[in-house]
Amino acid sequence: MLDVTDLVLEDHATVRRQFALLDDCHDDPRALAVVWKGLARMLDVHAACEEEVFYPSLLRVGDSGDDDSTEGDAVDETDDAIGDHNKIRDAVAEARRHEAGTDDWWEAVRRAREENDDHLAEEEHDALPDFRRNASDALRAELALRWLDWRYAHDSGAGITYDKDPEEYIAEHTP
Ligand SMILES: [Fe+2]
Ligand SMILES: [Fe+2]
Repeated sequence: MLDVTDLVLEDHATVRRQFALLDDCHDDPRALAVVWKGLARMLDVHAACEEEVFYPSLLRVGDSGDDDSTEGDAVDETDDAIGDHNKIRDAVAEARRHEAGTDDWWEAVRRAREENDDHLAEEEHDALPDFRRNASDALRAELALRWLDWRYAHDSGAGITYDKDPEEYIAEHTP
């Protein structure tokens, strides 16, 4: 069955692997530049795709956090995610301003990696489980199709909207 949560986790595995690839070629600036080019784009495209396809649905079907009967709080999870995405995007943008392999580049890449590691862990512990508890199989499949469709159109990184205000985003997407 098509399932958007599988597609999110596949991206997470790819991103972790690509950060590890930077370690494998840490003393080769040309290789670092090539690997980073793909990884930086993936980080931007993945976050934007989640904001386009995943989080609006989490806000609709996720736990309300209103009472003790629900484990999660979709608004908090979304607020954390958009804030984290902005921090990752800022570090990625900073790294793009420097030549691969320089101290300034490594500093920005390390910041992107730390922010990303923290964010993926939160998403996998909070947002994705909330969605799995509450979304129907039909919705998971429908979002998988929308995810793939959006990615085919935006994999180049073109046409992506960057920093978003978490509160405005939540207000815009809350039913
Ligand atoms: Fe993610
Ligand atoms: Fe995310």
